[in-house]
Amino acid sequence: MFRAEPRPEDAEAIASLVRKTGVFNDAETAMARDLALERLERGAAACGYHFLFADGPAGLDGYVCFGPIPGTEARFELYWIAVDPAKRRSGLGRRLQLAAELAAKELGGSYLIAETSTRSDYAPAREFYHSLGYEHLADVPKWHADNDGLSVFGKRL
Ligand SMILES: CC(C)(COP(=O)(O)OP(=O)(O)OC[C@H]1O[C@@H](n2cnc3c(N)ncnc32)[C@H](O)[C@@H]1OP(=O)(O)O)[C@@H](O)C(=O)NCCC(=O)NCCS
Repeated sequence: MFRAEPRPEDAEAIASLVRKTGVFNDAETAMARDLALERLERGAAACGYHFLFADGPAGLDGYVCFGPIPGTEARFELYWIAVDPAKRRSGLGRRLQLAAELAAKELGGSYLIAETSTRSDYAPAREFYHSLGYEHLADVPKWHADNDGLSVFGKRL
Protein backbone atom coordinates (compact mmCIF):
# COMPACT_ATOMS: atom_id res chain seq x y z
CA MET A 1 0.00 0.00 0.00
CA PHE A 2 2.87 2.40 0.78
CA ARG A 3 6.18 2.50 -1.05
CA ALA A 4 9.03 1.21 1.11
CA GLU A 5 11.99 1.64 -1.26
CA PRO A 6 13.47 5.17 -1.22
CA ARG A 7 14.33 6.98 -4.45
CA PRO A 8 17.03 9.64 -4.84
CA GLU A 9 14.41 12.41 -5.19
CA ASP A 10 12.87 11.47 -1.83
CA ALA A 11 15.58 13.29 0.15
CA GLU A 12 14.54 16.72 -1.16
CA ALA A 13 10.84 15.76 -1.16
CA ILE A 14 11.14 14.88 2.54
CA ALA A 15 12.86 18.19 3.29
CA SER A 16 10.10 20.07 1.48
CA LEU A 17 7.34 18.15 3.28
CA VAL A 18 8.95 18.48 6.71
CA ARG A 19 9.47 22.23 6.14
CA LYS A 20 5.79 22.57 5.14
CA THR A 21 4.58 21.11 8.45
CA GLY A 22 5.71 24.34 10.14
CA VAL A 23 6.84 22.65 13.37
CA PHE A 24 10.39 21.57 12.55
CA ASN A 25 13.36 23.96 12.48
CA ASP A 26 16.05 24.07 9.80
CA ALA A 27 18.39 21.70 11.66
CA GLU A 28 15.59 19.16 12.12
CA THR A 29 14.63 19.48 8.45
CA ALA A 30 18.24 18.78 7.47
CA MET A 31 18.30 15.76 9.80
CA ALA A 32 15.13 14.35 8.19
CA ARG A 33 16.74 14.73 4.74
CA ASP A 34 20.01 13.18 5.96
CA LEU A 35 18.25 10.05 7.21
CA ALA A 36 16.98 9.47 3.66
CA LEU A 37 20.40 10.19 2.15
CA GLU A 38 22.08 7.79 4.54
CA ARG A 39 19.54 5.11 3.75
CA LEU A 40 20.11 5.62 0.00
CA GLU A 41 23.88 5.41 0.45
CA ARG A 42 24.17 2.56 2.95
CA GLY A 43 20.96 0.52 2.69
CA ALA A 44 18.48 -0.43 5.41
CA ALA A 45 20.52 -3.22 6.98
CA ALA A 46 23.56 -0.99 7.55
CA CYS A 47 21.87 2.20 8.77
CA GLY A 48 18.66 0.81 10.29
CA TYR A 49 16.41 3.48 8.78
CA HIS A 50 13.19 2.14 7.29
CA PHE A 51 10.72 4.27 5.37
CA LEU A 52 7.16 4.19 4.10
CA PHE A 53 6.13 6.79 1.55
CA ALA A 54 2.64 7.96 0.60
CA ASP A 55 3.06 9.27 -2.94
CA GLY A 56 0.63 11.96 -4.06
CA PRO A 57 0.04 13.59 -7.43
CA ALA A 58 2.49 16.43 -6.66
CA GLY A 59 5.13 14.79 -4.47
CA LEU A 60 4.90 13.19 -1.08
CA ASP A 61 1.58 13.36 0.80
CA GLY A 62 3.27 11.88 3.85
CA TYR A 63 5.98 9.57 5.08
CA VAL A 64 7.21 7.74 8.12
CA CYS A 65 10.75 6.72 9.14
CA PHE A 66 11.48 4.17 11.86
CA GLY A 67 14.06 1.62 12.90
CA PRO A 68 15.58 -0.53 15.64
CA ILE A 69 17.21 1.17 18.63
CA PRO A 70 20.70 -0.36 18.90
CA GLY A 71 21.49 -2.11 22.15
CA THR A 72 17.88 -2.46 23.30
CA GLU A 73 15.61 -5.47 23.64
CA ALA A 74 13.51 -5.29 20.44
CA ARG A 75 12.80 -1.57 20.87
CA PHE A 76 12.09 0.38 17.72
CA GLU A 77 11.89 4.14 17.38
CA LEU A 78 9.64 6.21 15.21
CA TYR A 79 12.14 8.75 13.93
CA TRP A 80 9.76 10.84 11.87
CA ILE A 81 6.19 11.07 10.68
CA ALA A 82 4.79 13.93 8.65
CA VAL A 83 1.67 14.50 6.59
CA ASP A 84 1.21 17.40 4.17
CA PRO A 85 -0.95 20.03 5.94
CA ALA A 86 -3.38 19.93 2.98
CA LYS A 87 -3.94 16.19 3.52
CA ARG A 88 -4.40 16.13 7.29
CA ARG A 89 -7.27 14.65 9.28
CA SER A 90 -8.10 12.24 6.49
CA GLY A 91 -6.57 9.23 8.23
CA LEU A 92 -3.29 9.19 6.26
CA GLY A 93 -1.14 9.65 9.37
CA ARG A 94 -2.96 6.81 11.11
CA ARG A 95 -2.51 4.49 8.12
CA LEU A 96 1.20 5.33 7.87
CA GLN A 97 1.71 4.80 11.59
CA LEU A 98 -0.15 1.47 11.64
CA ALA A 99 1.82 0.30 8.60
CA ALA A 100 5.08 1.29 10.35
CA GLU A 101 4.01 -0.63 13.48
CA LEU A 102 3.31 -3.73 11.40
CA ALA A 103 6.61 -3.41 9.52
CA ALA A 104 8.55 -2.87 12.77
CA LYS A 105 6.93 -6.00 14.22
CA GLU A 106 7.84 -7.99 11.12
CA LEU A 107 11.44 -6.79 11.57
CA GLY A 108 11.45 -8.20 15.11
CA GLY A 109 10.34 -5.16 17.10
CA SER A 110 8.16 -5.62 20.17
CA TYR A 111 7.83 -2.02 21.42
CA LEU A 112 7.75 1.23 19.46
CA ILE A 113 8.91 4.50 21.01
CA ALA A 114 7.76 7.85 19.62
CA GLU A 115 9.36 11.03 20.88
CA THR A 116 7.83 14.43 20.39
CA SER A 117 7.79 17.83 22.00
CA THR A 118 5.80 19.27 24.90
CA ARG A 119 5.29 22.50 22.91
CA SER A 120 1.72 23.58 22.19
CA ASP A 121 2.20 23.35 18.41
CA TYR A 122 2.87 19.62 18.89
CA ALA A 123 -0.51 19.04 20.55
CA PRO A 124 -1.82 17.38 17.33
CA ALA A 125 1.10 14.94 17.44
CA ARG A 126 0.43 14.07 21.11
CA GLU A 127 -3.31 13.63 20.38
CA PHE A 128 -2.36 11.50 17.40
CA TYR A 129 -0.29 9.09 19.54
CA HIS A 130 -3.01 8.94 22.22
CA SER A 131 -5.62 8.13 19.59
CA LEU A 132 -3.50 5.25 18.30
CA GLY A 133 -3.22 3.62 21.73
CA TYR A 134 0.25 4.84 22.75
CA GLU A 135 1.09 5.12 26.45
CA HIS A 136 2.44 8.45 27.57
CA LEU A 137 5.70 7.32 29.20
CA ALA A 138 7.32 10.58 30.27
CA ASP A 139 7.76 14.29 29.84
CA VAL A 140 11.26 15.68 30.32
CA PRO A 141 11.32 19.46 30.72
CA LYS A 142 13.95 21.62 29.01
CA TRP A 143 15.06 18.73 26.76
CA HIS A 144 15.13 20.54 23.39
CA ALA A 145 15.30 24.08 24.81
CA ASP A 146 14.32 25.94 27.98
CA ASN A 147 10.71 26.19 26.81
CA ASP A 148 10.63 22.94 24.83
CA GLY A 149 10.50 19.60 26.64
CA LEU A 150 10.60 16.02 25.41
CA SER A 151 7.39 13.97 25.43
CA VAL A 152 7.82 10.20 25.08
CA PHE A 153 5.15 7.74 23.99
CA GLY A 154 5.31 3.98 23.56
CA LYS A 155 3.24 1.13 22.19
CA ARG A 156 3.60 -2.63 22.45
CA LEU A 157 3.56 -4.18 18.99
C1 LIG B 1 0.71 14.17 13.54
C2 LIG B 1 0.32 14.03 12.06
C3 LIG B 1 1.30 13.08 11.37
C4 LIG B 1 -1.09 13.44 11.98
O1 LIG B 1 -1.41 13.22 10.62
P1 LIG B 1 -2.95 13.16 10.07
O2 LIG B 1 -2.94 12.48 8.75
O3 LIG B 1 -3.56 14.50 10.14
O4 LIG B 1 -3.62 12.21 11.18
P2 LIG B 1 -4.98 11.36 11.04
O5 LIG B 1 -5.93 12.05 10.10
O6 LIG B 1 -4.63 9.96 10.71
O7 LIG B 1 -5.53 11.46 12.53
C5 LIG B 1 -5.64 10.34 13.39
C6 LIG B 1 -6.13 10.81 14.73
O8 LIG B 1 -5.11 11.59 15.39
C7 LIG B 1 -5.73 12.66 16.16
N1 LIG B 1 -5.36 13.94 15.57
C8 LIG B 1 -4.68 14.17 14.42
N2 LIG B 1 -4.51 15.50 14.22
C9 LIG B 1 -5.11 16.12 15.27
C10 LIG B 1 -5.29 17.49 15.61
N3 LIG B 1 -4.83 18.50 14.85
N4 LIG B 1 -5.96 17.78 16.76
C11 LIG B 1 -6.43 16.79 17.55
N5 LIG B 1 -6.32 15.46 17.24
C12 LIG B 1 -5.65 15.14 16.13
C13 LIG B 1 -7.24 12.43 16.02
O9 LIG B 1 -7.65 11.57 17.07
C14 LIG B 1 -7.34 11.73 14.68
O10 LIG B 1 -8.51 10.96 14.52
P3 LIG B 1 -9.88 11.67 13.99
O11 LIG B 1 -9.52 12.53 12.80
O12 LIG B 1 -10.75 10.51 13.64
O13 LIG B 1 -10.38 12.50 15.13
C15 LIG B 1 0.28 15.43 11.35
O14 LIG B 1 -0.50 16.32 12.14
C16 LIG B 1 1.66 16.05 11.13
O15 LIG B 1 2.31 15.79 10.11
N6 LIG B 1 2.11 16.91 12.06
C17 LIG B 1 3.37 17.63 11.91
C18 LIG B 1 4.54 16.73 12.14
C19 LIG B 1 4.54 16.10 13.52
O16 LIG B 1 4.16 16.71 14.51
N7 LIG B 1 4.97 14.80 13.56
C20 LIG B 1 4.93 14.00 14.78
C21 LIG B 1 5.89 14.43 15.84
S1 LIG B 1 7.56 14.16 15.43
